[in-house]
Amino acid sequence: MSSLQGKVAVVTGGNSGIGYATAQEFKSQGAEVVITGRNAERVAQAAKELHVMGLVADVGNVTAIEALVSQVKEAFGKVDILFVNAGIFQPAPVGQISEAMLDHQMGINFKGAVFTTEKFLPILNDGASIVNLSSVNAYTGMPNTPIYAASKAALNAYTRTAATELAPKKIRVNSVNPGPVATPIFGKTGMEEDQLNGFAEAMQHRVPLKRFGEPGDIAKLVAFLASDEASFITGSEYNIDGGINVNPLLG
Ligand SMILES: NC(=O)c1ccc[n+]([C@@H]2O[C@H](COP(=O)([O-])OP(=O)(O)OC[C@H]3O[C@@H](n4cnc5c(N)ncnc54)[C@H](OP(=O)(O)O)[C@@H]3O)[C@@H](O)[C@H]2O)c1
Repeated sequence: MSSLQGKVAVVTGGNSGIGYATAQEFKSQGAEVVITGRNAERVAQAAKELHVMGLVADVGNVTAIEALVSQVKEAFGKVDILFVNAGIFQPAPVGQISEAMLDHQMGINFKGAVFTTEKFLPILNDGASIVNLSSVNAYTGMPNTPIYAASKAALNAYTRTAATELAPKKIRVNSVNPGPVATPIFGKTGMEEDQLNGFAEAMQHRVPLKRFGEPGDIAKLVAFLASDEASFITGSEYNIDGGINVNPLLG
């Protein structure tokens, strides 16, 4: 299948996890792909493996996003697919929320996402597709995640309004809400390995399909939303979570 033939796609946070798998899927469907990330070495390594262009840009820094847009414009002119995926997970319970953590997490997951779209907008083709990577946490009261959840809920609220405002240009904006997906994100929280294993074990039992998602599961949904096959879909959200959002009371 090559339904993204002739399209230019940008994947923020494409050197790891869901972004990496989605860049791979976009590429396999025929798109020209640019991945971004913060660390030059990791970005270069992933770009080499994926045979795509890799550019360094911290989405927490608006000037860096502007520089990224200039580089993409120089290389490709216009963009058809913007996968706003870069994000972090910094757990902390109510009562232990620092101002620095809130600013950092909201700065990447929400402000970074907003300014990614804001700065790419001038080079998005009419008919482009923006996919925001949110989370089922936007709708759950999972302990330790008040700020992460709020950052993703804010992103989903933004998605709906942006979809309305960009509809005259036929630019579609949708959110994807994954449940737990096996990526390096949890290992970056500073949790000890036995804590991480305990968390994974407990989480897996709560998922009706009894497994974590794989990055490739999410990539296929994102690729569909990015394609012209989804041309009547905008302002929507898609849970992809093994059924966890059903919240079964028994089972
Ligand atoms: N895994 C899950 O269970 C899950 C569930 C729901 C939603 N999500 C969301 O999925 C997205 C991808 O996460 P993942 O699970 O694939 O984690 P991951 O493997 O840690 O990938 C995150 C990517 O985002 C990049 N990134 C982080 N902060 C950045 C910044 N300031 N500027 C540019 N790039 C930055 C990372 O690059 P570095 O190498 O620089 O860190 C990495 O490439 C996130 O938005 C996350 O919130 C994940």
